[in-house]
Amino acid sequence: MKKITLSVLTLLLFVGCAGDAPQPLNELVDEALVRAERQALLLAAKYRDQDGRLPQSWEHGEDVSSDSRWWCSGFFPGTLWYLYENNRNPEVLEYARLYTARVEREQFTTDNHDVGFMLFCSFGNGLRLTGDSTYRQVLLNGARSLATRFRPEVGLIRSWDHSREKWQYPVIIDNMMNLELLMWAAENSGDSTLREMACSHADKTLEHHFRPDGSSWHVVSYDTLSGKPHLKQTHQGLSDDSAWSRGQSWGLYGYTCMYRWTGDDRYLQQARRIAHFLLEHPNMPDDGIPYWDYDAPAGPETPRDASAAAIMASALLELSGFTQGEESQTFRDFAIRQIRTLASPEYTAPVGENGNFILMHGTGAYPFDSEVDAPLTYADYYYLEALTRLRGLLHA
Ligand code: GLY
Repeated sequence: MKKITLSVLTLLLFVGCAGDAPQPLNELVDEALVRAERQALLLAAKYRDQDGRLPQSWEHGEDVSSDSRWWCSGFFPGTLWYLYENNRNPEVLEYARLYTARVEREQFTTDNHDVGFMLFCSFGNGLRLTGDSTYRQVLLNGARSLATRFRPEVGLIRSWDHSREKWQYPVIIDNMMNLELLMWAAENSGDSTLREMACSHADKTLEHHFRPDGSSWHVVSYDTLSGKPHLKQTHQGLSDDSAWSRGQSWGLYGYTCMYRWTGDDRYLQQARRIAHFLLEHPNMPDDGIPYWDYDAPAGPETPRDASAAAIMASALLELSGFTQGEESQTFRDFAIRQIRTLASPEYTAPVGENGNFILMHGTGAYPFDSEVDAPLTYADYYYLEALTRLRGLLHA
């Protein structure tokens, strides 16, 4: 298996040396990381003295930032941690610590499900790279806060407290991304109930969130008495029955990650099903960057979503290590195709432009006309994660 992996990567490296063939992959990854670091340092300097602020996007030529309460607050610190992992630049480390500290209060947040995103990307990566024991305590507290949102009668973590006058207990597919914090905390505290909650959430999502073709609804609302779904809808997608692109990537990443933590074959099979739905979708563009919704009309006027591609590339690289033979190669090759596109001038902004975000052309929330064709802090984060994973494979 490892031999096959290496030979494919070696082939890709050599293919890059002939004529006008693509740039060798190791060179492309290293250059992309250098550019990303220069851009991220400019962004870090811009917000350094804006107490408590975290970069979010750049829209219509204006910086968009948030405090730690916004679901995206952990991504910029996480981006800095990945850059530090690759280059060990002390200036990046200093900024990574500074911006991570800005998210600290979220360890006590109990009014939404995004605590996993906020804390695991920031403090989780910080702990992994520094071993700082204060970071460990923040993560354990955060997991306990997240666990307050689990209702045993429903068997899932509630995503949002607002109901839009129709949802009794809304759970969005994005919530699969918050489970890793619980899995980590169970292993690091010995409290197995946290793991049971995460697995229950993944099991019920598997049962109710997916359509026969492997795509997922965005929002499933559960009846709080019966614990059964009473509504299946969208919030950020084209329609209730469409396949919102980032949601599909969250599902792919979430089940791949849960397989890593549990070894449960049902999670692996679900990740494979989602991957095949995406890779074989007739609306998937050749360059690997999805339109903002798989059911949006394919064409040059329809916005793409670089974040959906970056999350997917990172997940596919991990999934390729859990699968075998041709399928594993297909997943890895597709991720590499996506990374090549993201690293090209079509998606990577020149240093100093794009509000100092790395990637262009993300779509935040199309139906609300919010962050459309814009940089997104989470697109940058998962792109850095994908580059880091690919670099790890190339140097294995
Ligand atoms: N989790 C919110 C989003 O993906 O837009």
